[in-house]
Amino acid sequence: MAASRMSVFSCFLHVFLSSPAIAALKKYDFNIQVKNVSRLCNAKPIVTVNGMFPGPTIYVREGDQVLVNVTNHAQYNVSIHWHGLKQFRNGWADGPAYITLCPIRSGRSYTYNFTVTGQRGTLWWHAHILWLRATVYGAIVVMPKEGTPFPFPQPYQETNIILGEWWNQDVETIVNQANKLGLPPQPSDAPTINGKPGPLFPCSEKHTFAMEVESGKTYLLRIINAALNDELFFTIAGHNMTVVEIDAVYTKPFTSQAILITPGQTTNVLIKADQSPSRYFMAARAFMDAPITVDNKTATAIFQYKGIPNTVLPTLPQLPAPNDTKYALNYNSKLRSLNTPQFPAKVPLQIDRHLFYTIGLGMNPCPTCQNGTQLVASLNNITFVMPKVGLLQAHYFNLSGVFRTDFPDQPPAPFNYTGASLTANLATTTGTRLSKLRFNSTVELVIQDTNLLSVESHPFHLHGFNFFVVGSGIGNFDPEKDPAKFNLVDPPERNTVGVPTGGWTAIRFRADNPGVWFMHCHLELHTMWGLKMAFVVENGKSAEETVLPPPKDLPPC
Ligand code: C2O
Repeated sequence: MAASRMSVFSCFLHVFLSSPAIAALKKYDFNIQVKNVSRLCNAKPIVTVNGMFPGPTIYVREGDQVLVNVTNHAQYNVSIHWHGLKQFRNGWADGPAYITLCPIRSGRSYTYNFTVTGQRGTLWWHAHILWLRATVYGAIVVMPKEGTPFPFPQPYQETNIILGEWWNQDVETIVNQANKLGLPPQPSDAPTINGKPGPLFPCSEKHTFAMEVESGKTYLLRIINAALNDELFFTIAGHNMTVVEIDAVYTKPFTSQAILITPGQTTNVLIKADQSPSRYFMAARAFMDAPITVDNKTATAIFQYKGIPNTVLPTLPQLPAPNDTKYALNYNSKLRSLNTPQFPAKVPLQIDRHLFYTIGLGMNPCPTCQNGTQLVASLNNITFVMPKVGLLQAHYFNLSGVFRTDFPDQPPAPFNYTGASLTANLATTTGTRLSKLRFNSTVELVIQDTNLLSVESHPFHLHGFNFFVVGSGIGNFDPEKDPAKFNLVDPPERNTVGVPTGGWTAIRFRADNPGVWFMHCHLELHTMWGLKMAFVVENGKSAEETVLPPPKDLPPC
């Protein structure tokens, strides 16, 4: 007894004393190349990184410097975004095309050079131009510093679960044709788990992801929603999951039968193989509670106990119904930051700048389109127009005429945002208009869904920062009553949040990262239609509060 206690103790000491946390340099080569891939009885060329689908995992420790040399062998201009990495003063490595840099042209290379500080957990990377992220994506795993344990029981093993969408035809062709007609592109042909649709789809025997587990052991799943347009429910038959982290921030653990994850978000769960040894389906299906077409196709993968033959039929899971708003709201309400002395939730309590942005969908005239109209989207009635040069370059080098800094803090005129259906366009304008934030100022932004054309849930992503989701509700935000209900103690901290259908979400962040930072709906359809804007965060006083100089190999425009 004494001896075993002793060895546990010395093992602890060993972990804490013998491993000084030395940051390392991690180098990756990403070759953007086209490869023939077959799914759903159909083969087609897709754009990949290193011929892999999904792409390679970036595996680093907190504190590491990372160099990713990207060489573009594809016919498209390409840029890669490291979704959720804060890129302090270093937007040059952030990657959204024409926002922080011009894309890498065919035949050229660029090295993304960044250091991962103050973050650990699961994030992901994806192409950030056109719809190329349909096939160009992968996981980023940031391990805690050596000797720093997780704040939850050490799992036996871990697995990445990347959810995506597969189209049978070439995605860029589909999107171009749809835009010519002024209509939304057709929905994907299948959702996928680690690039594979699973056995509910034809020709999928070879295209089913399976993970083998040992009875009694606990596993960490790093779940990423890389889908283009679907918020997803994810579940495992017969097992409960314990949520321990979202968007690379630890949470207060809670168990759930299914999780909800929007495009852009990540969720780490612990799962114990504590059921009778068999084969169980993991499944992902869209959550969609708006009065528009529901995609109820289900991707499946297999959670397989060791020693169980493949001939055993897997147990089917119970997923929440695609329109189960109650499940979605209840799930989101359980998310809380861990908020311990080691991992505090630094929620801004005094707010310097109050912003209120309305989401609008609309129809613009389009003489060449099929119905004579074209769908558009806007924030505060502004449809964002992509510039021809990188906004960060324009900001850094003081180029005039590229953007304006008069993005309005409020919509032009208040209205009953979520009242009766509205078809009017409310005089939407177009422009490359940014909102200027003072360095280190605190910002509260309420994002309000509206009934312009249709209410719908929108996953909003902010580059360069994490934010705290201090409040959320259905209907119109009430500036008199709702702030009193904000959680300013342990709200979830993340980089992407789902604004509920016909409702609002309030986020807070500190503008302590100078540069130009994109904010957009992470449904690619809506980003394309203009549901996006950017913040320009001014430099602070000292050199350490100033945007870094651009790297020498920054792609030319
Ligand atoms: Cu995950 Cu601007 O993107």
